[in-house]
Amino acid sequence: MLRIERLQAGYGTTPVLFDINLALEEGQVVTLMGRNGMGKTTTIRTVMGQLRARAGRTTFAGSDITACAPEQVARRGVGLVPEGRRIFPTLTVRENLIATAANRLGAPRPWTLSRVTELFPRLGERHGQMAGTLSGGEQQMLAIGRALMTNPRLLILDEATEGLAPVIRTEIWACLNLLKSERQSILIVDKNIRELKRLADRHVIIEKGRTVWQGNSADLDRDAGQVQRYVGL
Ligand SMILES: Nc1ncnc2c1ncn2[C@@H]1O[C@H](COP(=O)(O)OP(=O)(O)OP(=O)(O)O)[C@@H](O)[C@H]1O
Ligand SMILES: [Mg+2]
Repeated sequence: MLRIERLQAGYGTTPVLFDINLALEEGQVVTLMGRNGMGKTTTIRTVMGQLRARAGRTTFAGSDITACAPEQVARRGVGLVPEGRRIFPTLTVRENLIATAANRLGAPRPWTLSRVTELFPRLGERHGQMAGTLSGGEQQMLAIGRALMTNPRLLILDEATEGLAPVIRTEIWACLNLLKSERQSILIVDKNIRELKRLADRHVIIEKGRTVWQGNSADLDRDAGQVQRYVGL
């Protein structure tokens, strides 16, 4: 469904990505791991069309999206929960959820306000509240709910549980496991290797802008020493 091949990108004249390779099949959960500053967010920005690729290729659902603008990538069915959440602070929870809602690809059982509220009851109690006044955890739930309301074929989460209280983290992992059981394709960046191992089919590790390791959860255990050096946990 998503294939990133030999991707290169950077900021201004500074190269950051040198050789990113990643493949995700429909219905799979794939992690993107690596220490701080290794290029995880930059990879996601490049896939989303927010940053121009300097070389390499990204294909999604059979089409080349390497040169697509963010709007086009979204329209093809990639939904993003960005690092830092980026909800609309001066809109209400409800307005945030419906602002970008769409079912362009005609999902048979589309996400609705009531389904998102079922997934995250905390949001239901706060439909009329300004999103900027939500707690960090509630904002993350809102960001996930907002992305789901676009009925994405692929959901990308950059730092799914970063900086959240343990009880909220547990809720987010439960939600992601539920989405996986419904065959939602997910690309996820996070640091909780134990949860990632349970959730994901495959793992991709990057170091200084290069894919340096790929494998499944059993491979991750087998190469634990090497993985530890790359991920620094
Ligand atoms: N807007 C920017 N302009 C210039 N350099 C940037 C910009 N954003 C990121 N970088 C640099 O690109 C490199 C990769 O950053 P990136 O945010 O992709 O890392 P990351 O793997 O997501 O890290 P983290 O785990 O801390 O989120 C870093 O050296 C960073 O300083
Ligand atoms: Mg990042």
